[in-house]
Amino acid sequence: MNTIIKKIDAEQIKDDDFQQAGEILREGGLVAFPTETVYGLGADALNSQAAAKIYAAKGRPSDNPLIVHIADTEDLKRIAAKIPEKAGILAEAFWPGPLTMIFPKTDAVPYGTTGGLDTVAVRMPNHKIALELIRQSGVLIAAPSANTSGRPSPTRAEHVRKDMDGRIDMIIDGGKVGIGIESTIVDMTAEPPMILRPGYITKEMLEEIVPQVTLDPAILHQLKEGQTVRSPGMKYQHYSPQAHVILVEGEWQNFAAYAEQNKADGVYALVFDGEETRLSLPCLTYGASGQEQAQQIFSKLRELDDRGAHKVYVRAPKPEGIGLAVYNRLIRAAGFEVIQV
Ligand code: TXA
Ligand code: MG
Repeated sequence: MNTIIKKIDAEQIKDDDFQQAGEILREGGLVAFPTETVYGLGADALNSQAAAKIYAAKGRPSDNPLIVHIADTEDLKRIAAKIPEKAGILAEAFWPGPLTMIFPKTDAVPYGTTGGLDTVAVRMPNHKIALELIRQSGVLIAAPSANTSGRPSPTRAEHVRKDMDGRIDMIIDGGKVGIGIESTIVDMTAEPPMILRPGYITKEMLEEIVPQVTLDPAILHQLKEGQTVRSPGMKYQHYSPQAHVILVEGEWQNFAAYAEQNKADGVYALVFDGEETRLSLPCLTYGASGQEQAQQIFSKLRELDDRGAHKVYVRAPKPEGIGLAVYNRLIRAAGFEVIQV
């Protein structure tokens, strides 16, 4: 399949920009597009065969459900069978934005989209291209991150091209994304609501709007054999470059000493901005603040592959605020291999 690359400037959208993408989606094809979090791989969410193509293109396990993207809160009623009052309040506060909420699904949503679950995950992205694509195509768009299953999520069209060229119909190139890690997922079928995947919208931000929100223990800990997961995506190895990733947690001095001791051919360190000058092994940096780290983490994990790194010691962020989301992605990239120094 020839993958069409279509550049669209979000600040200067032209009348016919979405014509071909809309046709592809209506006919059950696949279009990758930017959102404010990461690039998504879109298909008609209410068409089971279209959703099946997403799983095939990504090599995604069929029990890992997709998020349905909407452009209008009215659309929520078509796909969510019960919308608790709290969900309405959270939608009012955070949509469009990087918040995904889980509801019992209606019959309109095929099991092919929800990985066989009776619930559906929904979000309204805060990106002009994503919103226009949904509106102009006239379909609700199921979209996981547009990477090959298990690889770091794409934050640029080039990342999508590397993983998906020849496997999907079109990639809309709308430039670099803003946030860099995927949306916060909150299960609204639980009471109090439960965060299944941390993101830019933190527990503290949610609790300014609704009284109490809990955190799924699977966010920070590996599940034991046979333990059930609320979010199937949590059980798979994720976000990994080819290199062997090891998360190293502790003070800078101890990190530095540990990395120097383990210096060898093909061994890299991924550290915070400014620390690279203080190590003798090859380094990449991934920002200083939590927001910068979120923005850069996935592209830096991909860059390690481009450089041919075999092993990488990653400086662990503090699991607080947005840092919790970055930490959550990193422990999965490391397959839960964490060293305390
Ligand atoms: O920011 C995002 O959320 C991006 C952009 C493209 O919107 N999408 C994204 O999709 O990250 P994906 O497929 O990479 O991650 C979706 C996660 C998976 O871990 C999946 O298991 C979980 O959401 N999920 C989806 N539906 C669910 C459901 N009904 N119940 C529990 N977890 C669900
Ligand atoms: Mg993903």
